[in-house]
Order: sequence, then C-alpha cells, then structure tokens
Amino acid sequence: MDSYVLVLAASSGKNLELAHRFCETFASKGIGSEVVDLTTLHWPVYIPELDGSDEHEPETSELSDLILNSKALVVCAPEYNGIMPPALNNTIAWLSVQSDDFRRLFNNRTVLLATHSGGGGAHCLMAMRHQFSFLGSNVIGRTLTLNKTKSFSQETMDDLVERVLQ
Ligand SMILES: Cc1cc2nc3c(=O)[nH]c(=O)nc-3n(C[C@H](O)[C@H](O)[C@H](O)COP(=O)(O)O)c2cc1C
Repeated sequence: MDSYVLVLAASSGKNLELAHRFCETFASKGIGSEVVDLTTLHWPVYIPELDGSDEHEPETSELSDLILNSKALVVCAPEYNGIMPPALNNTIAWLSVQSDDFRRLFNNRTVLLATHSGGGGAHCLMAMRHQFSFLGSNVIGRTLTLNKTKSFSQETMDDLVERVLQ
C-alpha cells in the first residue's frame, strides 16, 4: 500500500470512536487507514518470565507487520492515573522484545497523539510523547485532546491529518 496509516485505540469507548473518526478523515483525503483496538488483543501482561515461552508469548507478528507497513501511526489513548493505559504500554513492551532492536517498529516513524480523557489528558499525552520519542519516533507537535467539556472539531482533525500526511 502506498500511503497507509495505522490508528491504535487504547480503549474501546470514546477513544475507539475517535480512532474511527481519524479513519473517516483519512478516507475523505483518499488515504487508507485501519483501526486496531488494543483492548481486543488480550496479550498477557509482559513479564520477562513469559518472554520466549511457547505457551504464553502472544502472537505479535500481525500487529508488527501492520506497523512496519504503515506510513505513520495515530495513537488514541485515555489518561489512566496520569499516564497511558496498560493496554498501550503492554502492547509496546511485547512488540519491543520481538527483535534485537527494541526500537525497530517505531524508529523514524511519524506518530500523532490523541486522547479522550476524563480531565485534560495532558499527562497521558506527555507520557506517550516521552515513550514514543524514546523509541525514536517523530512525534508531531500538535495533539488532539477531547473530554466532557472539549468537544470534537473536524477542523482540528483535518489539520492534524494533514500534518501526518506531510
Ligand atoms: C483506571 C482509570 C484511571 C483513570 N485516570 C485518569 C486520569 O488520571 N486522568 C484523567 O483525566 N482521566 C482518568 N480516567 C478517566 C478516563 O481517561 C476517561 O474515562 C476516558 O474517557 C476513558 O476512555 P474510553 O471512553 O475510551 O474508555 C481514568 C479512568 C480509569 C478507568
């Protein structure tokens, strides 16, 4: 696929809705995209004891291939206790141990961050920025924040999507 964006949703409520809105917006610009709802993966919590275990290690290749074939990632995640939810952190942990290079899937990849959180979501955005930057991603400066008082703006989403495509 020429230009294809992978949209990760780290929870299955408002953030999954937001992820689908991103896909609709990419589609309106002729760009293919796909949502992966990380809550449906049901990977066990990463602990070193499960790493390499035939019985317990999750099948990560499908998601790895989707990431490797993508032009960019959009990550929609709610704030949980001041950081990102375990569904996201756990997914990244498992993906990072699948090769000798823990940055392999994320290095030099464009990443756009978005959140629908109970409050401002700023801590979650900061935590995700820190993590993806550490993994070598090029995290876009502008982010999307929604909550009970800050409602969706298509104008903002259009602007963000254009930045992903640049
Ligand atoms: C375990 C837990 C911790 C949370 N911690 C925070 C928090 O630190 N800051 C915040 O703004 N909202 C917090 N929330 C609220 C969620 O961010 C909010 O409900 C979000 O919209 C859920 O996304 P969803 O609808 O996609 O499931 C927390 C919710 C849960 C379940």
